[in-house]
Amino acid sequence: MINKQSPLPIYFQLEEGIKKQIENGELNSGDMLPSEREYSERFSISRMTVRQAISNLVNEGYLERQRGKGTFIAQKKLEQNLKGLTSFTEDMKSRGMNPETIMIHFTKVQAIPSIAEKLELSIGAPIYEIKRIRLADGLPMAYECLYMSCDLIPALTMDIAKGSIYDYVEKKAGLEIGKGVQEIEAAIARKKEAEILEIKEGSPILCIQRKTYLRDQRVLELVYSFYRADRYRFFVEMDR
Ligand code: GLP
Repeated sequence: MINKQSPLPIYFQLEEGIKKQIENGELNSGDMLPSEREYSERFSISRMTVRQAISNLVNEGYLERQRGKGTFIAQKKLEQNLKGLTSFTEDMKSRGMNPETIMIHFTKVQAIPSIAEKLELSIGAPIYEIKRIRLADGLPMAYECLYMSCDLIPALTMDIAKGSIYDYVEKKAGLEIGKGVQEIEAAIARKKEAEILEIKEGSPILCIQRKTYLRDQRVLELVYSFYRADRYRFFVEMDR
C-alpha cells in the first residue's frame, strides 16, 4: 500500500489504499478501521501521517468517526442519475429504501419579486412555501425549500406535502409534469442546514436549484435542495 520511494505523499498513498480496500470489498460499511497505531506500525509511518489520511477520508465521506468507539467505514454514497425527472420518493423507493418527510414549515405567502420571477407569476401572487427534511431509512438526506403557485394546486395541504408532491400532482391534481432544469453547486453547511442534516457546521453540501415545468409550460415548482455531500454522488451519462 505504501511505497516510500514514490513521489506521492505518504498520507495520499494511504488514503488511496484504504479507498481501494473499500471499493473492492476488503473493508465493508460498518467495519471498524484499524487504529492509527496499527497503520503506523504496519507501514513504519508517523501517526500524524495516518491521522491526516483518515481525516481526509472522513471529510470525503468514506469513513465516519463515532465518539468513544473508533472510526468506521461509512455507508456507500447514494448515486443519483441526473437523467430523468424523478421525485425524492421515487428515487428512494427504486433503491429499496423507505422515504419519509419531516415537515418543518408549510405556509401560504405572497411571492416576493425574485421568486415571482422564477415561478413566472406576478409579484404578490399567492404561493406555497414548504420546507421539508427528506429522510431515507430514517437518515436525513436532504433539506428542501419549495415554492409553488397556490392557484395551480389549491387543495394542497401539509398532510399531502408530507408524502410525495409529484405523486399528488400527477395522480390527484390531474396535472402532467413535463421537464425540469437543475443547477448544482457546492457549498458549506451553515448552522441551520448543519443542524437539520445532522452534520457539523462547515461540512460540504450540494445545493440544487430545480425548476420544474408542467407539459403545458407553466412552472410547477421552484425548489432549493441541500444534500449531504457525504451521502450523495450525482452522475450523468453523456452521448456524443
Ligand atoms: C426531489 C426534487 C424536488 C421535488 C421533489 C419531489 O427531491 N429535488 O424538486 O420537489 O423531488 O419529491 P416528492 O414527490 O417525494 O415530494
